[in-house]
Formats: sequence, structure tokens, C-alpha cells
Amino acid sequence: MKISFKKSLFAVVASSALLLAACGSAQNDSNKSGGNEKEKKVLHVGTEATFPPFEFVDKGEVTGFDVELLKALGEEAGYEIDIKNTGWDSMLAGLDSKDLDIGMSGITIKKDRLKSYDFSNPYYESEGFLILFKDNVEVKNAEDLKNLKIGVQNGTTGAEAAESVVGSNAKNISKYESSGLMFQALLSGSVDAAVTDKPVAEEYIKQNPDSNIQSVEDKERFKPEYYGIAFQKGSPYKEDFDKALDKLFENGKYAEIYKKWFEEEPNLDSLKD
Ligand code: ARG
Repeated sequence: MKISFKKSLFAVVASSALLLAACGSAQNDSNKSGGNEKEKKVLHVGTEATFPPFEFVDKGEVTGFDVELLKALGEEAGYEIDIKNTGWDSMLAGLDSKDLDIGMSGITIKKDRLKSYDFSNPYYESEGFLILFKDNVEVKNAEDLKNLKIGVQNGTTGAEAAESVVGSNAKNISKYESSGLMFQALLSGSVDAAVTDKPVAEEYIKQNPDSNIQSVEDKERFKPEYYGIAFQKGSPYKEDFDKALDKLFENGKYAEIYKKWFEEEPNLDSLKD
């Protein structure tokens, strides 16, 4: 059988048109999947997960107060949360390079960070810092840090708190890239004392009752701080997460998650002013 060139060209064009139409309608269907529900946008989140009870790894999963709160906020705001244990520096670098949408890591909202990142409204009040020390040394207050080998997590407000006492170039400070490495240094005796956020220090003592680690507070020097969710500067997500946070404050979901991790009622008023 002889088919003319014109006819076969027509057949090709017609069948491609059909194929395109089919693809088009398949695409429409996937947008509509399950009635009105759209596929949720996945937000990529970095964290430094050696900071219990806020974020830590349990049986290979990143979990903790921050993680559960962020997932609940994502649910409320209509986003899917993909959280990875990136480490502290890579979390900040990932926000800078726009590879990450969110940093969630017990991050204190503070002036110099606000130059580079946007923050959600405060979601947790941390009552300053504790000084942790081995039982063979004596520490009464922050002044004593001057005569000890101290460990801190690099780039954190705990590091700044220690430096505010001993000076920023002090030779007796060792800076560790994670909170976990700082705790290890304290346990192994590489340092005599460590300075970290009070709730994390308290959790550490609770989890390691046999480690003979003592703690002391210096309320004169170390003031309360507020944690926020960090976004890229100008992020479109900040507003949605602020709204979702208000909603979870109101509907009791925030209190439910808080009580699970801290075994007490949250003080919502202190977060709202
Ligand atoms: N709140 C302190 C800060 O923002 C320490 C946070 C450390 N977080 C962590 N997951 N290691 O500097």
C-alpha cells in the first residue's frame, strides 16, 4: 500500500496532538488529586540534632520539641516538612545559599542574626544559661570561668555568654561544632566546664545522672532568650508560620506538645508580648 507523504504527515501531527491533549488532562488530574487537595509543597529544614529536648536523633529519626512543633506548624500552614540533621554551620550556610527554607534548632532570635535571616515570632523562652562542671572543680558563679578550661558550641549564644566573662580571644575556651561534642568534652575531662542553654543543660543532667556533673546559674550575667524559626531573608513562609503558631497557641496544640517534652504548662503570655 502506498501512503502519500501528505497523508502520513497528517497522521503524525494528529496523533501528537492527541498525545499532548492526553498529557494535559493527566496533568490537570494530578493537580486536583483527591478533590481539592493540592500536592503539599515540601520545605527543606536543617537542624543540629544534638540538642535535646529540642532536637536529637532517636532510633535514626530526628525528633524533639522543635521537630514536633515544626511538623504541627507545617500541617496547619499546609506544608510538608523535610528535616535533616545538617549540623549548625551547614544549616546557616544552607539558608544563605537558599538550599534550605528553614533552620529549626533552638535558635535564639537576636539582632545580628536578624540582619541575615528572618525569624518567626518567638516560640520558646529559654531562661538563660547554666554552667555545667565536673565535680572535681568548684564553680560559684560565672566569674569562676576565668580560671577554668571551658567548652562551648561554636557560633552560639552560649559561646557569647562565656566570652562575655572571659573575653573573646581567651585561651581557655574550646569551641565545638556541635552541642554533643561539647558535652563529650566535658564528660571526658577535656574541659572543666561548659556553658549552654538552661533547658538543654537540665535535660543533660537528667539523662546522665551518673556523670557527676553539677550546674550553677548566674542570673545576673545570663539573661533569658527567645527561640524562633529561621527563614531566608524575605522568605514568603514567615507569615504563614506566624499565623500557624498563633493558631496552635489558641487551639491547645502548642500546649500539648510543650507538656509532652517539658512536663509543665507553657507560659504563653511571656511569648506573646
Ligand atoms: N540558643 C542558642 C543559640 O541560638 C544555642 C542553639 C544551639 N542549637 C543546637 N541545636 N545546637 O545560639
